[in-house]
Amino acid sequence: TKIAFVGLGKIGQTITYSSVIDGIFEEVMLYDIIPELPEKFEHELRHAFATKSIKTEIISSNNIDDIAGADIVVITAGKPRKPGMSRRDLFKDNAKIMIDLASKLPSKNPGAIYVMVTNPVDMMASVFAKYSKEMTISTGDQVETMRMRSFIAKKLHVPVNEVNGYVGGEHGEDAVVLWSTVSVKGKPIDQFNIDKEEVSNYVKQIAGEIIRVMGGTTWGPGTIIGDVIRAIALNENKLMSIATPRVFEGEIIHISVPVIVGRTIGPSIESLLDEKDKWHLTTATKDFYDVYKEMLSSLGEVT
Ligand code: NAD
Ligand code: MLT
Repeated sequence: TKIAFVGLGKIGQTITYSSVIDGIFEEVMLYDIIPELPEKFEHELRHAFATKSIKTEIISSNNIDDIAGADIVVITAGKPRKPGMSRRDLFKDNAKIMIDLASKLPSKNPGAIYVMVTNPVDMMASVFAKYSKEMTISTGDQVETMRMRSFIAKKLHVPVNEVNGYVGGEHGEDAVVLWSTVSVKGKPIDQFNIDKEEVSNYVKQIAGEIIRVMGGTTWGPGTIIGDVIRAIALNENKLMSIATPRVFEGEIIHISVPVIVGRTIGPSIESLLDEKDKWHLTTATKDFYDVYKEMLSSLGEVT
């Protein structure tokens, strides 16, 4: 399997490292617009591969035409938010980059699956899919899912692998904990003494707090998204909360639900959720669509 990373900033480097360090890829391609950054990052990875005896080929370039023949293309190119901003505030700047990439990447990478990370991640996946017509997924709420599990594990003093469950909806302030999926030691969460609002607030706010102090989130999403990529590359067929394209009112949109992730993606377990969770997802979908349509029309002048 060949994988390309488009964007090599903070999260691009972390995701690259976490997904390639096990040596599961035949070739890794690195691309960014900053002169010398792909090349110097290539050296770093080669040094890491040397100590781990990894044989993966690496190429790096500032020329997007060199990104060719990839099976998986991971996109982290674009601006990150600053403290006080919402992810949606990045729409206009980052959508321009997606429209440009959508015109350049597909012809050289036929049949590739595109993994969107750039924020607002679900909307960027929808924009890239709209303009490229390629299979595009958003890493969506798998990040929130792991934040939720880690918080509950800490609160209830249980090992994190005893906590199960998912977060769905849009990645960001509209994410919803899908409580009907959440269990601890195999028992429904309602049998435990936990403040659901506190869990939900943590899931929505912790990224902003990390950005305020550390300048960006890296290790958490870097590792989690590395696992999403691994599930695709190794056809692991794991249940993860990511967003696949769906058509709503004639427009491709991306909303996370727990779905089987492997070489092919699906089916989802949406129909198994309780009515409350389904209602929250429907509300999140409508909200996404309304905001997305408005933001798309604001792009008028650049398209
Ligand atoms: P960063 O500023 O550290 O890196 C961004 C990189 O993108 C830079 O190296 C820049 O040169 C590059 N870039 C810009 N335009 C490009 C183009 N046209 N082609 C190729 N490369 C280009 O930012 P970061 O912290 O790495 O974040 C990147 C994006 O990822 C942001 O939108 C951020 O919000 C998002 N992000 C998403 C998640 C998630 O869970 N989905 C997690 C962390 C960050
Ligand atoms: C995250 O959740 O870590 C990312 O979406 C980065 C951000 O919060 O802007």
